[in-house]
Amino acid sequence: MNWRNISQLSKKVYWVGVRDWNRRLFDALIPLPKGTTYNAYLVIGSNKKALIDTVNPGFEKELEEKISKCTNLADIDYVIMNHAEPDHAGAIPYIMSTNSKAMIVTTNKGAKMAQTFYKVPEERIRIVADGDSLDLGDKTLQFIEAPMLHWPETMFTYLKEEKILFPCDFFGSHVAVGLYDDDVEDLLVHAQRYFGEIMMPFRIMGQKAMEKIRGLDIMLIAPSHGPIHRNPNRILKAYSQWVNGETRKKAIVVYATMWNSTEKMIRPIVDTLASEGIELAIHNLTVTDLGDLAKDLVDSKAIVLGSPTVLGGAHPLVVYATFLVKALKPPAKFGIVLSSYGWGGGAVKNIQEILGASKMEVVGAMEINGPPTDNDVGKIIELGKLLAAKIKEEAH
Ligand code: FEO
Repeated sequence: MNWRNISQLSKKVYWVGVRDWNRRLFDALIPLPKGTTYNAYLVIGSNKKALIDTVNPGFEKELEEKISKCTNLADIDYVIMNHAEPDHAGAIPYIMSTNSKAMIVTTNKGAKMAQTFYKVPEERIRIVADGDSLDLGDKTLQFIEAPMLHWPETMFTYLKEEKILFPCDFFGSHVAVGLYDDDVEDLLVHAQRYFGEIMMPFRIMGQKAMEKIRGLDIMLIAPSHGPIHRNPNRILKAYSQWVNGETRKKAIVVYATMWNSTEKMIRPIVDTLASEGIELAIHNLTVTDLGDLAKDLVDSKAIVLGSPTVLGGAHPLVVYATFLVKALKPPAKFGIVLSSYGWGGGAVKNIQEILGASKMEVVGAMEINGPPTDNDVGKIIELGKLLAAKIKEEAH
């Protein structure tokens, strides 16, 4: 008995994706507290049928069962590969072996990836470029290249007649349940977290893509993870702020502490910033969630890093977090580094080396021996006031 449910989004357009609520980690890096979905969409035109993206390996049969509610997998004419990452393209080998006629439709770079990763023969690949379209009869798919969002080959697909944008990972969120955006109460929090984890390093490319889709008449945004946006303006507005690096009057505090000396440095700066009206996000690295940390990097104007010295450098958790901060390219303008050591310093130098050349202004760095004295606390409070003033000044 095929009990699978699919959802009709529009005339002859169906969500045929799958829910992976048990998944807890992506890329051996990103926590998924709410699981995720791999969204695939079936578009039935009067002449041709297209499947937009597929699903993660292991879900091929579920995808096939869902498709069979509308048509046979063997009758699909085109598989639109917006992105080659296996969570969306991983079912391509199964589809290509089950269906002898379907063509993979993708960008030039996607074509090479389809051959490399999925062994798709060249003659079964149709390469499309920016602005190209594909006629399905009474429906037309238009393609918009969106490189580095977040791989080089990525593209968006726009279904002209139904005004649906399929942007693959862009505008996505890792949430396993909820078909539409208004089904998930805190969706924007999940979307911001997702943006921080996946899209933030590519903000410039995000700006270019936003510019490209500006003129489109969009009723639905159907990404490849999480709910479909039937209130597209809400996510478009949020993305406009995030890709442009618009920050809040907010500081993110990221630290580890071994014998509480570093935490004793962190507490007065947190208190000072809070009393100055600065919004705070505090991440003790022994207990924090990296996705939350990425979310807070998206809109923080300042970063405070705190670390003890361990074996002549920063604590390994702080090394990891600092590397992530560097890699994710957050828009923060100001930074402070605080450190305590037992018998020899090195954490501040280590953190500064990892951060390397950066547009972030280091407002202050303090490295002290043991727990902070009253004099040290006074200096930390002054640093906090200076940072608060800079945040407030920049906010105007
Ligand atoms: Fe969801 Fe980049 O794959």
